[in-house]
Amino acid sequence: MSRHRSVPAVLLALAALPLGLVPAAGAPVTGAGDPVFPSLGTTDYDALTYDLSFGYRPATRTVDGTTVLTARALTRLAGLELDALGLDVRAVRVDGLPAGFRTHDEKLTVRPARPVRAGALLRVEVEYSADPRAALPHTGWVVTPDGFAVAGQPDGAHTVFPCNDRPGDKARFTVAVTAPDDLLGVANGLLTATEPHPDGTTTRRYVSREPMATELLQASVGRYTVHARQGPDGLPLRDVVPTARAADLEPALALTPGQLEWAERHLGRFPLETYGLLPADTDDPAAFGFTALETQTLTLYKPNFLRQPEASIGSHMMHELVHSWFGDSVTPGTWADLWLNEGHADLYGLMYRYERGWPDSGGFTTLTDRMRNVYAQGDQWRHDSGPVAVPTAATLFDSQRYTGGALVLFALRERVGQEVFDRIERAFLQRHRHGTATTADYLRTADEVSGQPLSGFLRDWLYGERTPPMPGHPDWTVNPVDPGAAARTGGAPRGSGTL
Ligand code: ARG
Ligand code: ZN
Repeated sequence: MSRHRSVPAVLLALAALPLGLVPAAGAPVTGAGDPVFPSLGTTDYDALTYDLSFGYRPATRTVDGTTVLTARALTRLAGLELDALGLDVRAVRVDGLPAGFRTHDEKLTVRPARPVRAGALLRVEVEYSADPRAALPHTGWVVTPDGFAVAGQPDGAHTVFPCNDRPGDKARFTVAVTAPDDLLGVANGLLTATEPHPDGTTTRRYVSREPMATELLQASVGRYTVHARQGPDGLPLRDVVPTARAADLEPALALTPGQLEWAERHLGRFPLETYGLLPADTDDPAAFGFTALETQTLTLYKPNFLRQPEASIGSHMMHELVHSWFGDSVTPGTWADLWLNEGHADLYGLMYRYERGWPDSGGFTTLTDRMRNVYAQGDQWRHDSGPVAVPTAATLFDSQRYTGGALVLFALRERVGQEVFDRIERAFLQRHRHGTATTADYLRTADEVSGQPLSGFLRDWLYGERTPPMPGHPDWTVNPVDPGAAARTGGAPRGSGTL
């Protein structure tokens, strides 16, 4: 829906800027040119901080939001755009002055009372409300019986708050969640303040120590109990559990400290200030269409998934935990780089599985056997889902990004050996810690750390239309492509191989 509100006439006159400068409906939608979602985000400014407030109204099940964005203008800004969809925007101020604004397509176009010069800091304040149950073309809201949670990846965060919604523009976050006292508001990071109000609501404030991508925001309201526990070296762990399900979920939640020790042995010190699980109070596939999402420091889960024995959930829990390193601390520069998240998460999740002797759903019991099976499907997956580092919006979460990505990393490991591979991994994580990295960054790190020209080898694996030979396994073969296979089976396989 398109909305248009005027700034007061007196301010307009002062600023001498006709509101007509806000582009009319139908004007070309801009964007940062992401290979998968070209219209997402902007490169006109660099988001530095988001201070978000969410107030939950149980009577209407809606949310009142305030977003305060500070950013640096990278060009002169007579107008600026935030991504926004389904937000009922009431007011926008830039540097304290009311600004003109209009929502259209998936953008909130703002015209400050006076242009912002290139290089200047600006502060954009947006007041809005949102209905998590609204029917939108896509959404980042997760509806629960007594509140909500957030699953923004890849392009849903801007249905929750207006933002520069591309993974390449990370920022610092604080989140304040206000809820009636029988409910509890939570968000990423650490709780820094609890403020009860006379009207029977309480505001809880959370600060994320490390920068975060918009897609990794978590904010949730529900009938929750918070369970604190200890991780390695005193890392504070926090699980946020629907109170009625706390006892059922405890066996799964108690697995995290042991998983952290394993992950730290492979990847180095846990990069964030805390970790924990948020099994939101819904198993409805319509609430979100997958098992879990690595929202930073507080991974969202379907609760029933976690009620299974360890052998059925451990590798996927490892997959999500590993996203703290690959995905959250080191975030893909663009959505074409998603294999860096999912390939690494699946590789370590599967290593964990087979090391512990848990066969996967295909009956494979070693990583090598599993990789041989994925290898055989290599050309079919390239045909159906594109090469590993060339996803489209339709193929983004296909298995090609998951076990397909793990296969690329396995091939690299077979080529250079475990020791060099581990050094590449550690160097990549260290270089891009709390930043973003692209596929090219991974290739550069592989070349430099190994002292070998590996990027040509990796490019064939990542961008080739055909599956390259597997180093060390000349006997491995690739099945011929069946052009009609995806159509007959309802599409290429999707999602993580750790399940
Ligand atoms: N990144 C999540 C995981 O692999 C899965 C998300 C899949 N779907 C989505 N629309 N984000 O743990
Ligand atoms: Zn994943």
